Amino acid sequence: MKLKDKVVVVTGGANGIGRALCRRFAAEGARGVVVADVEAEAAAAVAKEIGGNAVETDVRREEDLARAVARATEAYGPIDLFCSNAGIGVAGGAEASDDDWQRIWEINVRAHIYAARAVLPAMLERGEGYLLQTASAAGLLTQIGSAPYAVTKHAAVALAEWLAMTHGDAGIKVSCLCPQGVRTRMLMGEDMSSTANFLMEGSVSPEEVAEAVVKGLDEERFLILPHPEVAEYFRRKADDYDRWLRGMRRLQSRVNAARST
Ligand SMILES: NC(=O)c1ccc[n+]([C@@H]2O[C@H](COP(=O)([O-])OP(=O)(O)OC[C@H]3O[C@@H](n4cnc5c(N)ncnc54)[C@H](O)[C@@H]3O)[C@@H](O)[C@H]2O)c1
Repeated sequence: MKLKDKVVVVTGGANGIGRALCRRFAAEGARGVVVADVEAEAAAAVAKEIGGNAVETDVRREEDLARAVARATEAYGPIDLFCSNAGIGVAGGAEASDDDWQRIWEINVRAHIYAARAVLPAMLERGEGYLLQTASAAGLLTQIGSAPYAVTKHAAVALAEWLAMTHGDAGIKVSCLCPQGVRTRMLMGEDMSSTANFLMEGSVSPEEVAEAVVKGLDEERFLILPHPEVAEYFRRKADDYDRWLRGMRRLQSRVNAARST
């Protein structure tokens, strides 16, 4: 899919990867870009910069997502591309609080379900539409230091696969964006930085992710990998799960050692 003249909604569009997508889609000639984010002021600033619209949206609330879709449709017409991109990270394992597990489920998974409910009926009626689901390499490979992130991102990948399988023949295209480290506040902020510092090595900029997305959408590829090496890691995991787990344990102990120095 080419972005020219398309109508696009991006959740989590006020910062990081989402903001880079909004800017890039506008630069590619999208007809309307709607920045949907819980941070209303930051969303408005991005919308102003690119000549789009901002809709204050908390993706945990189904009515907010429905409103973002309605506003986008009123302003520009039917939505061609919906980017379900907002996401959060929390550190920890099983011991993470129920509140953290609940919050990350609501934002990293349930929001994608609400988004699909909000946009799919009109897309199915038109027989066309594109969903870009931001998951993570952690949804294919599991994140060192954060079980809630790994678990929810695996679920996000599964939902994307399911949508692609189920609605592909009805004209719905789906891409699943699975980056490794991206230099945004998620990676550099407090929530994940203590456990995800190792991802800074080999990290890419949000603009490089946007570049990979435009290429992936153009090729209508399911898996969009701004870090191509993730495909090789994923292959190695499938080839020999136990060997892969041994490698991940070695990585975990290197991360532990680096943290204790
Ligand atoms: N940064 C990375 O290393 C990395 C790697 C892989 C995947 N990802 C994924 O990319 C996506 C974007 O992350 P980012 O790195 O740009 O982070 P970011 O923190 O820079 O941006 C996330 C955006 O989501 C918004 N958001 C958070 N909760 C929301 C809510 N309830 N409703 C609406 N908006 C909400 C925030 O306000 C923010 O604008 C996430 O899904 C993240 O899991 C990030």
